[in-house]
Amino acid sequence: MRASGYDAWRRLLFRFDPETAHRLATAALRAAQAVGPARAALERRFAVGDPRLEQRLLGAVFPNPVGLAAGFDKDGVAIRGMAALGFGAIEVGTVTPRPQAGNPRPRIFRLEGEESLRNAMGFNNAGVEALARRLARGGARRPGPRPPLGINVGRNRATPAERAHEDYLETIARLDGLCDYFVVNVSSPNTPGLRDLQTASAIERLIGGGRERTSRPILVKLSPDLEDGEAAELARAAVDAGASGVVLTNTTTDYGLVPGVEPVGGLSGRVLRERSFRMLSAVAPHVAGRAVLVSVGGIDSGAEAYRRIRAGASLVQVYTAVVYRGPGLAASINRELLGLLERDGLGAIGEAVGADLRLSGAVR
Ligand code: FNR
Repeated sequence: MRASGYDAWRRLLFRFDPETAHRLATAALRAAQAVGPARAALERRFAVGDPRLEQRLLGAVFPNPVGLAAGFDKDGVAIRGMAALGFGAIEVGTVTPRPQAGNPRPRIFRLEGEESLRNAMGFNNAGVEALARRLARGGARRPGPRPPLGINVGRNRATPAERAHEDYLETIARLDGLCDYFVVNVSSPNTPGLRDLQTASAIERLIGGGRERTSRPILVKLSPDLEDGEAAELARAAVDAGASGVVLTNTTTDYGLVPGVEPVGGLSGRVLRERSFRMLSAVAPHVAGRAVLVSVGGIDSGAEAYRRIRAGASLVQVYTAVVYRGPGLAASINRELLGLLERDGLGAIGEAVGADLRLSGAVR
């Protein structure tokens, strides 16, 4: 969608509090996905079908490298609508074993000047049973594009720390066969104690246990608040334990990035951009060639997506920029990526993955 096309919608949506605006946008997408001609109209407008953007990764074909990040469609209610907007992958969740309400509202805040968000949702979701039933219903006969589906899994707030890993493993077991890949989320700042699972031993246990419960690839999602060296070490431990990839990063609790901001929840969007890039650059040399890197945090253009890809990411994801730039974001990033490939004389996006890493000599 042209920027000006979304401007009016954005003005309207931003009159509502962010969570209400999100619900309205999701409701509109749900309505559109249910009606064949409406869905087809979205596809015509937003799909960028070009084989140069395609990659075979994690046992699936990604039609383009721009995925929807976790948290946008927690309960997997708008997967087909999001696919019609041209996303190359959809990651639903975070899902927990039991349904939970999350933190009290308001719990999403706009930082408009910074094109950023602060959220303290706390894994509000309908629980694994509801997601499993919905995914099973939305089976193979449904028409429309089907980009790879990831499921991001977490733990319930009420689960005691010593049993947290059981929540993840139970959830993976229940959803086995219903997605293309899993992401173990040990990095949300809004569930007390969750980030304590960011140790090599906890991650090894989650990945090892997860692999006994599914044959689908499992990735781990890390926090941008780790030291670079720590992140590299955890990524390596995860991959050694059998993880197929690493998602970098979740939201940050470095409130110093926005002077005067209330120190609650996690920051996403433009304020997270450089930190997310730095962490990718720190981790990539340690796992490149052995695991798929997914870069997320402050990506809002083809140029930024391309910078992440050249730094070693095979895939990127977006959340906050969808709020600020609208439903045409994936399409515009993909079109821009095609132009950048042409500029650099590359025939396919896979050739760009890690190009700057090789140039810098970090990986041979
Ligand atoms: C998120 N994010 C998130 N991540 C996750 O792993 N599980 C989740 O449930 C959520 N929920 C969620 C809610 C809201 C309102 C936001 C803004 C974000 C984090 C998200 O997937 C992503 O990692 C960060 O937002 C950074 O990317 P952007 O937003 O800067 O593109």
